[in-house]
Amino acid sequence: MAKEPYIVGRASPDIFGDMMRPSQYKALYGGRGSGKSQFFAEALIANAAINKGLRAVCVREVQKSLKDSAKLLLEDKIREMGKQHLFDIQNDLIKTPGGGVIIFQGMKDHTAESIKSLEGFMICWVEEAQTISKKSLELLDPTIRAPGSELWFSWNPRSKSDPVDTFFRGPMPPENAIIRQINYSDNLLFPQELEQKRAHQKKASPDRYAHVWLGAYEPEALGAIWTRQIIEDNRLPEHPELDRIVIGVDPAVTDTDVSDMHGISVCALGADGHGYVLEDASLRGSPHQWANRALAMYDKYEADAIVIEVNQGGDMVRHTIESTGRGARIIEVRATRGKHVRAEPISALYSTGRIHHVGTFPDMEDQLVKFTPHGYDGKDSPDRAEAMIWCMTELFPRITTAKSEPEEHFSTHRGDGGWMS
Ligand SMILES: Nc1ncnc2c1ncn2[C@@H]1O[C@H](COP(=O)(O)OP(=O)(O)OP(=O)(O)O)[C@@H](O)[C@H]1O
Ligand SMILES: [Mg+2]
Repeated sequence: MAKEPYIVGRASPDIFGDMMRPSQYKALYGGRGSGKSQFFAEALIANAAINKGLRAVCVREVQKSLKDSAKLLLEDKIREMGKQHLFDIQNDLIKTPGGGVIIFQGMKDHTAESIKSLEGFMICWVEEAQTISKKSLELLDPTIRAPGSELWFSWNPRSKSDPVDTFFRGPMPPENAIIRQINYSDNLLFPQELEQKRAHQKKASPDRYAHVWLGAYEPEALGAIWTRQIIEDNRLPEHPELDRIVIGVDPAVTDTDVSDMHGISVCALGADGHGYVLEDASLRGSPHQWANRALAMYDKYEADAIVIEVNQGGDMVRHTIESTGRGARIIEVRATRGKHVRAEPISALYSTGRIHHVGTFPDMEDQLVKFTPHGYDGKDSPDRAEAMIWCMTELFPRITTAKSEPEEHFSTHRGDGGWMS
C-alpha cells in the first residue's frame, strides 16, 4: 500500500519484489530463518514512514504479553533503518508519523463487537499465522476492509487443515492475493549461527527437517489415530481445577545404557472429567536418572502415584526407585498387547475433545501422530507417548480397560499410602 516506492532490498529480490505490489492479501509461508518476520517488519516501518497517519495492527492468536508480539522487532527495525526521529515508541504501542499508530493484539481476546475497533486500520500483520483459529480469521477478514488496506500473513506451515493454509493454499484462495513460499535459501542475510543449526538438524533429525527448514507440513502417518488438528483443537494455555495427578514412566528396554530414552509424562484428571497433559519430562540417561526425574515430578506436582511399565524391567524397575532411597506410591503396569492397541482408547478420548495438552509438547506430539490402527509407524520408540498413554489409562480406567486391556491382563500393585516410606 505504499504510495511511494521504498527499499527493502536486503533480502532476495525475486520473492520480496512481488510482495511490494499493492494487494489486499499478502501471504508469506515457509521454513525457519527465511526472513518472513524481518521482511514484514521492515515493510511495515517503511510504510508507516511514508504514509502519514497510517494505522496498523500486529496480531497473533494468543498474546499474553507484549513480549509475545512483534513490537521488539519493530523497534529494532526503526533503529536499524535510522527512523528514530519519526516514531514515538511507547509502552504498549508505537506512534507513527502524522498521528498514526501501530498496536499489538491477541485475536483470542477479540469478539465480534470488539473487533470493530480495528475498522479503518490499513495494515494488519498476522504473525505466526499457523496458529490462527478459523473464528479469528473470520473476524479479521471482513474488518480490514478500508480502501487500499492490506492483510499480511507470515507463518511456518504445520498442517494442511490449519485455517490459514486452507484459506490461502486450499482449492479457492482469495483473489487479489500474493502468496509466496520462502525458505532459508531465499534469505540473502541467512546468518551463520542458523546455518549451523540447520546443518545439524538435517543430520540429527531428518524426519523433522523438511518441516522445520523447508516449510513442509509436519509429518503424520497415513491413517494416524491422532491428528495434529485434534491435538491443536483441544490445546489449552491453562488447566482447570485438578482431581488427580499421576506420573507415567516408560523406561527404556535395556537398563545399562546410559543414553537410553525414558518416557516420563505428567498427566491429570480435571474436576470436569477431562484429561490434561501437563508435562513431558522424558530424558535420556541411566535408570538412576529416570527414577530421580520421576520422583522429582512426583514431588513437584504432588502427584498421587507413579505408574510404571514393568514389562521389560521386572523387579529391576522397583529396585531402581528403591535405590534412590525415597518413598512414592507406585502402580506397576504390564503391557500384554501391542502399543497401538493400548493407544486406541486414549486417541478416542482425544477425538471426543476430552484430553487437552496444556502447552505444547512437540516431541511427544510427533510420536502420537505416527500411531496407526496397525502399529507405530515411526523409526524411534514412542516412549514419550507411551508414558502419557499409561497415565491416561490409569486416569480413565473404565474406558480403557473395557475396550482394550481386560483387568486380568494387568499386574497392578497399588500401595496403600505407599511403600518404603
Ligand atoms: N532484512 C533483514 N534485516 C536483518 N536481518 C535479516 C533480514 N532478513 C533476514 N535477516 C536475518 O535472517 C534471520 C531470519 O529472519 P527471520 O527471523 O525474519 O526469519 P523467519 O522466516 O521469520 O523465521 P522463523 O520461522 O524462525 O520465524 C534473522 O534472524 C536475521 O539474522
Ligand atoms: Mg518469524
